[in-house]
Amino acid sequence: MTDKSSHSAFWSHLEDALEARHAESLNRKCTVSEPLGPTTISRNGKTVVNFGANDYLGLAWHPGVRQAAMEASHKLQKFGSGASPLVTGQTEQHAKLRKTIAEFKDCEDAIVFSSGYAANVGTVASLAGKEDVIFSDSLNHASLIDGCRLSRAQVVVYPHCDHDALRQLVQQNRHRGRFAFIATDSVFSMDGDLAQLAEINRLCEEFDLHCILDEAHATGVYGESGQGLAEHLGIISNRFISVGTLSKALGCVGGFVAGPRVLIEWLTNFARSWVYSTASTIPNAAAACQAISIAKTMRAERIQLATQAVQLRAKLGQLGLQVGMGDSPIIPIYINDPKRVLLASERLLQMGVYVPAIRPPTVPRDGSLLRISLSVCHTESEIDLLTNAIALW
Ligand SMILES: Cc1ncc(COP(=O)(O)O)c(C=O)c1O
Repeated sequence: MTDKSSHSAFWSHLEDALEARHAESLNRKCTVSEPLGPTTISRNGKTVVNFGANDYLGLAWHPGVRQAAMEASHKLQKFGSGASPLVTGQTEQHAKLRKTIAEFKDCEDAIVFSSGYAANVGTVASLAGKEDVIFSDSLNHASLIDGCRLSRAQVVVYPHCDHDALRQLVQQNRHRGRFAFIATDSVFSMDGDLAQLAEINRLCEEFDLHCILDEAHATGVYGESGQGLAEHLGIISNRFISVGTLSKALGCVGGFVAGPRVLIEWLTNFARSWVYSTASTIPNAAAACQAISIAKTMRAERIQLATQAVQLRAKLGQLGLQVGMGDSPIIPIYINDPKRVLLASERLLQMGVYVPAIRPPTVPRDGSLLRISLSVCHTESEIDLLTNAIALW
């Protein structure tokens, strides 16, 4: 605030709270990251290898995806959809995207939201109500958490991926809800580990639950055809409600839900983040259709990505670092202190690699971490540059 005459207690409150956040090394700043290539960006005027994107398959750069966007825009001579889907925002291109997603996910129908965030919020808040109970993993993405809050359901948070604790909490609390849900990421966005879907599936059957499964980081990355972790594990169940994004491995923007017709009709009527929000742009819908058809065929790339991820984890482990396990392309290095994690990220940037520092409240109080995300486009020498820089930091 520069105008002191309007300096009410309210503005002072904002300034003081921001200062306190700064003092704890928890403040956020939005820095320009100018894309230079599938794995490089310019940040603060420096060209660095980017380990901070979710474009796991490089599809944001794919010529076919870009071409589809340009052709759609030229054909209609239009960019934005101009309205929410129930008014005039749903074009033939949007309808085609819904069909493409439904086929991709082997489902009857699909619905596309403006973001994965909107998909989770709208889905959870419209499916669960105050008579219901939601069991929510403690490390779920903010959009699932916010969906739980908006639903007004009773929320029981269970310790991260602790199946025994979840079972116990379900036994104790299932009776409190008319309907009961488990809400979970399939690949956790900061820790890169996987929900135990087989166990969750068993609990759903045993206790009459439904699982709202956020496949944001698994879409395109797991499964024979890239459907996600449920496909990878061979779980086919009508107790799973599958949410995904177009924004990560598919290289576009948006979120979706695929499922039986009745589910999509419900969301069409009651998911407020869909009903009251402008449909995504026409070029984005065209690009997403193309990205899905390419992603389906990228089985070899999925295997390569998992291999790269396992190898990198092993190298980082040899350096004595506390690294999250598994084969997902999200690899956390736990540093646990916000100040130290910021310094580490800054040091790495000076050495030519960008790895974002993740701090509370995105992660728990003592859970600050460096979040490496791998792309199949990263070369061996780029990954070596990363490990050498980490060895020196
Ligand atoms: C697990 C998870 N779900 C949902 C979202 C939201 O997706 P979008 O970026 O498309 O809004 C994210 C994005 O960070 C995520 O990590």
